[in-house]
Amino acid sequence: MNSVNEIRSTFLDYFHRNGHEIVPSSPLVPRNDPTLMFTNAGMVQFKNVFTGLEQRPYKRATTAQKCVRAGGKHNDLDNVGYTARHHTFFEMLGNFSFGDYFKEQAIYFAWNLLTKEFCLPKEKLLVTVYHEDDVAADLWKKIAGLSDDKIIRISTNDNFWAMGDTGPCGPCSEIFYDHGDKIWGGVPGSAEEDGDRYIEIWNLVFMQYEQVTKDQRNDLPRPSIDTGMGLERIAAVLQGVHDNYDIDLFKTLIRASEEATGVKAEGEFVASHRVIADHLRSSAFLIADGVLPSNEGRGYVLRRIMRRAMRHAELLGAKEPLMWRLLPTLIREMGQAYPELIRAEALISETLRLEETRFRKTLERGLNLLNEASHNLKSGDHLDGETAFKLYDTYGFPLDLTQDALRRRNITVDVEAFDKAMERQKAEARANWAGSGEEATETVWFAVRDRVGSTEFLGYETEKAEAVITAIVKDGKIVDELKEGEEGALVVNQTPFYGESGGQVGDTGTISGEKFTFDVTDTQKKANGVFIHIGSSKKGSIKTGDVVELDVDQKRRRKIRANHSATHLLHEALRETLGTHVAQKGSLVTPERLRFDFSHPKPMTAEEIKQVEDLANEIVLQNSPVTTRLMSVDDAIAEGAMALFGEKYGDEVRVVSMGQRVDPTKVGNRPWSLELCGGTHVKRTGDIGLIRIVSESAVAAGVRRIEALTGDAARHYLDGQDQRVHEIANVLKTTPQEALERVHILVEERRKLEKELNEARKQLALTGGTANHSEPDIEEINGVSFMGRVVHGVSPKDLKPLADAGKNKIGSGIVAFIGVSEDGKASAVVGVTDDLTSRYNAVVLVKALSEVLGGKGGGGRPDMAQAGGPDGQKAEDALKALRQNLTK
Ligand code: ALA
Repeated sequence: MNSVNEIRSTFLDYFHRNGHEIVPSSPLVPRNDPTLMFTNAGMVQFKNVFTGLEQRPYKRATTAQKCVRAGGKHNDLDNVGYTARHHTFFEMLGNFSFGDYFKEQAIYFAWNLLTKEFCLPKEKLLVTVYHEDDVAADLWKKIAGLSDDKIIRISTNDNFWAMGDTGPCGPCSEIFYDHGDKIWGGVPGSAEEDGDRYIEIWNLVFMQYEQVTKDQRNDLPRPSIDTGMGLERIAAVLQGVHDNYDIDLFKTLIRASEEATGVKAEGEFVASHRVIADHLRSSAFLIADGVLPSNEGRGYVLRRIMRRAMRHAELLGAKEPLMWRLLPTLIREMGQAYPELIRAEALISETLRLEETRFRKTLERGLNLLNEASHNLKSGDHLDGETAFKLYDTYGFPLDLTQDALRRRNITVDVEAFDKAMERQKAEARANWAGSGEEATETVWFAVRDRVGSTEFLGYETEKAEAVITAIVKDGKIVDELKEGEEGALVVNQTPFYGESGGQVGDTGTISGEKFTFDVTDTQKKANGVFIHIGSSKKGSIKTGDVVELDVDQKRRRKIRANHSATHLLHEALRETLGTHVAQKGSLVTPERLRFDFSHPKPMTAEEIKQVEDLANEIVLQNSPVTTRLMSVDDAIAEGAMALFGEKYGDEVRVVSMGQRVDPTKVGNRPWSLELCGGTHVKRTGDIGLIRIVSESAVAAGVRRIEALTGDAARHYLDGQDQRVHEIANVLKTTPQEALERVHILVEERRKLEKELNEARKQLALTGGTANHSEPDIEEINGVSFMGRVVHGVSPKDLKPLADAGKNKIGSGIVAFIGVSEDGKASAVVGVTDDLTSRYNAVVLVKALSEVLGGKGGGGRPDMAQAGGPDGQKAEDALKALRQNLTK
């Protein structure tokens, strides 16, 4: 049997055998096309290769490309479930030639695959060509041997393929399959062509031109080939069914939803099962590619798809959220071809469950309101716009869900009135905000938001993207142009630049267009979701509407990512080490370093710091994947995620988990760190490299701060430390290993030497050496022995022992020592032997010294007194004054 998986690989293998590189599907969110909401064809990822802007190492490629057509121009959402071939998600098989082969080979490859590999009977096939394309018509005749009536010339755009208003394009040739006369319909170009008998299965586009503007079309440098075959359609043909929803893949998905709901896909329930199967695919793939349900842009398209499916789950009587329970079946069917589904399983599952849980809360009441408001209406009537708006605003019903719900009764919605109600609400919100006291300088951002909406952030997935300039602001005003050299802020529809928030600094980088380069020095978020890229035009002038390429400084972002993830690890390590009273009080994440403030009443000890560092680095070495899930705040907190108290979070939050903790009391591993966080993070903890805490200090009462480095910065820091140890060892003439011991020895030696030196000085002072004192000998004054000396290099605390030693030496008499320190201050001591204390009082005598030394008199006992003074240079004068005092 030709299963979907087999057909996909047969196709890819066939072209691989024929010299084509098998290139993986590109993501559903196009990186290189700002005008496109979702990837909708295989050629999207090769757009710039066709125009010659981008080179690839191969000239032939083949892909199975995931595509979404919902939202934007190609919107199939309304029909899905009710027709045989409409999908929001489908796979396009394609082969591509970039200036290599052209029409002949392309037709040959296609015909050969269909008739030889897929063994389709030739009589069932017919083709169309663009009416002017004689070459293609002749080639079909030559290669396929088709008769003229099977080669139909079409003059409309159906046979001239263009991706959009601009870009590569060319005439095309479509291959049709005839499902037989049991089904109504006519050949292409006939009056009955809308019937279902002849189904287009493959489109071969002969890329020859590039549409530059509406009126200008250039030849491509080298003619190329782009083809697209809907996998679901060819599977239907090969499996002998008419309806895409009857192929193996859909049958399996629908069986899963039958089993989960207990309702057979029959009669009125067929459409609901189909909607669920189709929407499950688009939702799962979009979430895997980084889109999450929201009220803006791509996120809102996803939400509409999900909620539409969820209403159908309700129609089938599902009492519990259904979609997430079908996910394992989808992953079994498609996970091998698209491993991103397996990687993102937890995120997809969680997102589906959360959205459905939340929506179910209002779904029933919304449906009651809808029934009430519409029960009097009959086929052909309109539901009023106010009710549709209330359903949207209060009950979370996207407009197309309301339309879908009324479709079976052939009732439509007054869309104009719905739009008016929406406009009115926006105006009211503006008026409310105007009165809320925002700073005047910020008002311009709200005006920008009103005009162009919020910015879609692509930066979790990519650091490079294309976008359209939607607004330019200069000196606080919206302008149309920014000239070379001027400073201003650019707003675009989608951006990979992170706007400063949650402590993480904004991204820098460049925004460039064909004729200009703008240096982004900072990115900020304003007015609830408008990202503004601040900087100046380095070259050329920029206009609103320009298509631009945005390049985040990737090296810088890599460092920021590592520092942000390290902050989470340190946070948890601090809680483990110091206790759960540790709560985040602020943080700063820059490319250079990280800073983390937390509540803790006292300084951390060196051991605590080391333990925190060790714990965090252990998780780095686990090299476990860092995962992000979208959850409701309550669920996240219930799971133990750390949230900042007092922080304003939206309904849904990103929850980042890192590391694994083996918990013997529970089955399975729990994440080591779980935090609510909108920042950008490493893919695996090992990407952080290394964490090094470089400081710990106080910020306020009860709040401590650590600063840390990661990766290269940490390594360079340690290199610096190492370098210093080497230098120290060099000076000590030893090895770094022995340097410490050497320092201990030196310090010990120095202590010993100082002691010896002191001793020697004392001895000198007493014995009358020459260097350290003025008067070597003992004098006789008034019949009393007097030893008076000025000494240097003797510390004040040694003066008293010196005086004692002096007293001993002279037996009976008076001693006076004045020590002069290096900074010129004097300390003096006077000692009187006991036999003389009745005549002389040391306290009085030291006062005489002190007066001359500029001091305040000192104190002590009659036999020993001390004083000091600032004027060390007057030491000799002081001794003279004392001698005079003794002569009296
Ligand atoms: N790009 C062509 C299409 O989408 C093959 O039909």
